[in-house]
Amino acid sequence: MKHILAFDARAIHRGNKGLAIDHVAVALEVDALLARMTTAQQINELRGSSPRPIDGLYYAGGDATLGLPPYKMVDGPRGARAGKATAFPVAIARAATFNVALERRVGFAIGLEVAAKGGNVLLAPTINLLRHPGWGRAQETYSEDPHHMGAMAVAFISGAQNHVLTSPKHLALNNLENTRFAMSANIGMRALHEVYLPHFKRCVVEAAAASLMSAYNKLNSVYCGEHPALLTHILRELWGFKGFVESDWFLGTRSTAAALNAGLDIEMPAAHHFTDETLALALVSGELTHAIIHRNARNAVYQKLAWRLADQHAPDAAVVECAEHLDLARQVAEQSLVLLKNEAGLLPLDNRSGLRIAVVGDLADTVNLGDRGSSFVTSSAVTTPLAGLRALAEQTTLTHFASHSDFSALNDFDVTIVVAGLTYKDEGEFIPGAQQEAEGSDLARGGDRADLALPERERDLIRRAARASKKTVVVLEGGSAILVHDWIDAVDALLMAWYPGREGGHAIANVLFGAVNPSGRLPVSFPKSMDQLMPWDVAALSVEHDLLHGYRYLDHHGHEPSFPFGFGLSYTTFSLSVFDVRRDGSAFRISVQVANTGARAGAAVVQLYVGAEESSVMRVKNELKGFGRVQLEPHEVAVLEFELTDADLRYFDVEADDWRLDPCVYRMSVGFSSRELSLVTRWQYAGDGWRELS
Ligand code: BGC
Repeated sequence: MKHILAFDARAIHRGNKGLAIDHVAVALEVDALLARMTTAQQINELRGSSPRPIDGLYYAGGDATLGLPPYKMVDGPRGARAGKATAFPVAIARAATFNVALERRVGFAIGLEVAAKGGNVLLAPTINLLRHPGWGRAQETYSEDPHHMGAMAVAFISGAQNHVLTSPKHLALNNLENTRFAMSANIGMRALHEVYLPHFKRCVVEAAAASLMSAYNKLNSVYCGEHPALLTHILRELWGFKGFVESDWFLGTRSTAAALNAGLDIEMPAAHHFTDETLALALVSGELTHAIIHRNARNAVYQKLAWRLADQHAPDAAVVECAEHLDLARQVAEQSLVLLKNEAGLLPLDNRSGLRIAVVGDLADTVNLGDRGSSFVTSSAVTTPLAGLRALAEQTTLTHFASHSDFSALNDFDVTIVVAGLTYKDEGEFIPGAQQEAEGSDLARGGDRADLALPERERDLIRRAARASKKTVVVLEGGSAILVHDWIDAVDALLMAWYPGREGGHAIANVLFGAVNPSGRLPVSFPKSMDQLMPWDVAALSVEHDLLHGYRYLDHHGHEPSFPFGFGLSYTTFSLSVFDVRRDGSAFRISVQVANTGARAGAAVVQLYVGAEESSVMRVKNELKGFGRVQLEPHEVAVLEFELTDADLRYFDVEADDWRLDPCVYRMSVGFSSRELSLVTRWQYAGDGWRELS
């Protein structure tokens, strides 16, 4: 029987240059360099020098006389945003794979393409927690769960940092788009440390992320770009961060002395508050000191020496959109597709029995890669769902009907595939019009979704098609949770496709025809209605954050979502047995057997959740603490192993300003989603030791 580690740190971190730095040696070198630098040279390192990107690169600092190269920063989370590059599925789609090894490879590939474009800093991953699925940039991030987010981000960074520095963003709580330049995310220390920051911490501590981008918004009424507790106390003093913090663009730096004093090292994309004049004034007034300029300049140049950036050469441009990356983009898309409904086993469709298939909807024939904000990537070719189906069809005939066609003929077809959903016009990063026009792209509306329902045109399309068809499959595109309650009963099958990247059409065809068994699982709960979630106001200027959102909120309030976090169907079935939990030092070794009980090979995603009972403080019902993905042949059984440390069980004690392991009962459960936890065991911590409860 094969034994599989749910998270194999050695494999994930392979080649991560950030983890191989000799900080003692670098510190000496950096101090020697700083001693040689004039104040003007130090100041030069504190700011970007390109208000607009040059061939996709944003420059910061750099001084040939000192042998210091500039940082050359490139967006972003789904590929290199510099000319044409491999457009991978958006991050939320990749998160649905629950496949950290694959995400490491995506990070590796994007990092390589960024390096080939001449970049040395990748402005990714986006790791703002998906507090509410209406966030316009939901597609850019990984998850509503901090553990899941952290695992995917660590994998991405370790892959990318084989080639370039990464910059996880946006520190912190940047989770409302429309008011991002003004809103204050208000939060207590417990929820901050337990829910909204743990994934940032993992990027710094486990993956040695080389830099971080601060957020536009405020945290407890102070702009994140000038927040001393965030940028210095938490980031450097508690987590030991050694890299640089750059501001988010345009309105990310709000002041001169306050920002520098707080620990913002580099103003991007160009000097506005960190100009020679403003700095001189701040020095004269005494608000700013030379010691701070020295400190921040040191932070700014540290990674240039640590990473030996001066000696780096761009890899051959042939790696961009190379066959291997296209293959990877397709594999990731295949594993990201989440089968949400499959009435009477309608899917997979038989490609060899002369099926007559109608493909309905404009989106079937539309390049739909996601929003057109800073994470937009264009590829030299993109396979749409219709093109993917056509490429794979054998003895199947396919007929396309545009959205406004007469659907009365649909009844003559064996099955109808409706491709419906959202585009960059419905959700995404909102970039002020001027910038969009300058880049020659369509005016992207993007922004947050006030309502999680599909636009009326898409609902109407699904309903009309379903009414006229014998059998209906819906392929849904979009970057987050979508309400389905008003049309789900009318359709036979539903496949969540996200924004599946340049090879997405092939992936969709492979899953619909059964060449690939779907294995994606939801990284975000799909509620039945907006009422099941917390109030959501896309114009809010002040937003309270606490321990409850996503599945935590649904569990706490006893709401039954349409599809829970972690859920996804397969063309085969799985079962769990032999749940074994053992104490080992200050951790639990947990194992469970997972069997493929059906007739097809497929991948199971097993999830480990923990809840605390009889705790002295409020606890959420269940929290994800581990997950593992296992590929199994029919009837094959494997053992999946997790490690759960005492540190994973602690809560943040606000009084003590520290983490604390509460003496209480810990309920550990495994299953196939946050709402399907079949095996449970309880352990009691008495303050001096552990015992298993029967
Ligand atoms: C976005 C960042 C992005 C930057 C540079 C900002 O508006 O918030 O995520 O990296 O632009 O394009």
